[in-house]
Amino acid sequence: MARKLSRTLELDGIKSKIFNNGELRRKLGEETASADFFSPQNREGVQQREHFSSINLENARRFLTDEGGCVAILDASNVSRKRRQKIRDTFPDTPHLFIECMNADDEALEASLERKTELKEFSNRSKEDALDSFVKRIKYYESIYEPLDIEPNRILVDSFESCILQEQASYEVPYYDRIRDILTTRVVRNLFLVRHGQTFFNTEDRIGGNSELTDKGKDQAEALAEHFATQRIPMIFTSNYKRTLQTAEPIAHRQDRCSIIALPEFNEIHAGLCEGMSYKEVSETMPHIARARGLNKYNYIYPDGEGYKTMEERVYRGLKKVFYLNNYDENIMIVGHRAVNRVILSRFLTRQEEEVPYIYMPQDRYYHIQINPHRRVFELVSYRDTSA
Ligand code: F6P
Repeated sequence: MARKLSRTLELDGIKSKIFNNGELRRKLGEETASADFFSPQNREGVQQREHFSSINLENARRFLTDEGGCVAILDASNVSRKRRQKIRDTFPDTPHLFIECMNADDEALEASLERKTELKEFSNRSKEDALDSFVKRIKYYESIYEPLDIEPNRILVDSFESCILQEQASYEVPYYDRIRDILTTRVVRNLFLVRHGQTFFNTEDRIGGNSELTDKGKDQAEALAEHFATQRIPMIFTSNYKRTLQTAEPIAHRQDRCSIIALPEFNEIHAGLCEGMSYKEVSETMPHIARARGLNKYNYIYPDGEGYKTMEERVYRGLKKVFYLNNYDENIMIVGHRAVNRVILSRFLTRQEEEVPYIYMPQDRYYHIQINPHRRVFELVSYRDTSA
């Protein structure tokens, strides 16, 4: 959230800077990753954390008074009233706004915790150990947590749903309307929407299933890996199906550090009774299905399966997870399926419902999407070097 705010304000020409207590702690404090460092009973830990917060407050003060800064973002937990009072006392004459972020989606939270275990400070621990330690750290924070209530300028944001749950702010807060808009607007630095490579089912024009990549499909995955090797892709989101995972693996392999996150929300449309059949077989043996689907493809629901309309909700939920986990300022890659990618793309392109099931979704090109308050880009890019 802090990065999204800072980046967007900067794009608006408003000089802003993030002062993150955690980063300072990791830089200055050795042995500060253990959960007990965060215990409210650990006097030395409490002192050190107060010290880091004071350094950042002083840096922020200097930024605002001597360095021409307009917005200083104090990015920290700041969970107690006492800490927030300290901030207010440091800036008695500077308008300020407290932003509290919450997220009530357990799965997104879980995935976000998993990401935390990849932090450098946990590099000498096993994943389980790091997770335990982080959960314990959160418990310590919870034990001293006091919600925003007496602070005069405050806003409570659901960072998963991107909406404002509560707010109370006076018009003294500069850029308030802009900040509100940024908090609730999704920013996409670069979204690469890729369809999996060719599968055995594709060669037979079969629907659904969990087919593997053919040699051509593997070759496409390698070409994608080569194409993206010079761009930073920290996370690749896939479905649970082999074809998307097999496409993502070589891409992740060519990156320095890249996690593959499989989301069931991105599984391909479930064709129910028609799963595993070819389009020809459906036409020949169940012509009523082929006809009904042809007449109203968007609203049509396969018997015992899904339709574009009914899968939309889950695909959008998957997208929310992606945005929540992506930290706003990183590149995102989704390796999905034909129908799923159409639904994702329709979220960004204003398309009529009936057009969605026909959006072009090739396997030898991908969609590149960029969205910020100043720019919207949608382009279909070939990932093979055609100049050779
Ligand atoms: O053929 C590949 C596939 O991903 C199927 O698994 C899926 O049912 C289909 O494409 C979706 O495309 P359409 O809605 O055009 O049939």
